[in-house]
Amino acid sequence: MSLPVTSVPFTKIGNKKMNLPIIMDKIGNEYGIMVDNQFVGVRYYDVEESIEKKLLKTFIHPQSRKHFHLSLMIINHHDIPPHIDNDLNVVINYYLQTANATTKFWNPKNTQLNAVKIKNQVDGRLFIKEDLECMGNFKAETNDLWMLDVSKIHSVESTCNDLRIAYCFQSNKVTYSDIINNLDKFIL
Ligand SMILES: [Fe+2]
Repeated sequence: MSLPVTSVPFTKIGNKKMNLPIIMDKIGNEYGIMVDNQFVGVRYYDVEESIEKKLLKTFIHPQSRKHFHLSLMIINHHDIPPHIDNDLNVVINYYLQTANATTKFWNPKNTQLNAVKIKNQVDGRLFIKEDLECMGNFKAETNDLWMLDVSKIHSVESTCNDLRIAYCFQSNKVTYSDIINNLDKFIL
């Protein structure tokens, strides 16, 4: 597969229609807050083995499948503030529902950066927009596959609170540049 060389921390890999169920049985991880006894934020659900196999077989090179863990990501708020992901270098998201949201990437304005840690975050952090400047953004469409360097600061903004749903290949074993520089070894 050949894609244009990119220096930005996000790349569209492709678009493919698949009919996959959305099963929200077991929460693997969650990052957010409770508002009126309701969870608000990002939740990652465990994915059934048959669905995981199907997605890996469709998108990821056999030799590289061992580097990824698959989760079902559900975002239920229109504004996920700038953050870096907890314990992850890179994700490849296969979007089932986009909530018409924009994913933005940010650079620090100064070397001094205020960071906050929320529940369940170990090396993940939240940042405030005043300390940052936007360096690029993208809008995924349904059935799109996008790769994101989630070790870089990013946020998600939408005009509605519709659910944003994606199957999410996550890796802390390889980096965004490992993949972008060797796409043929990673992506089918
Ligand atoms: Fe994230």
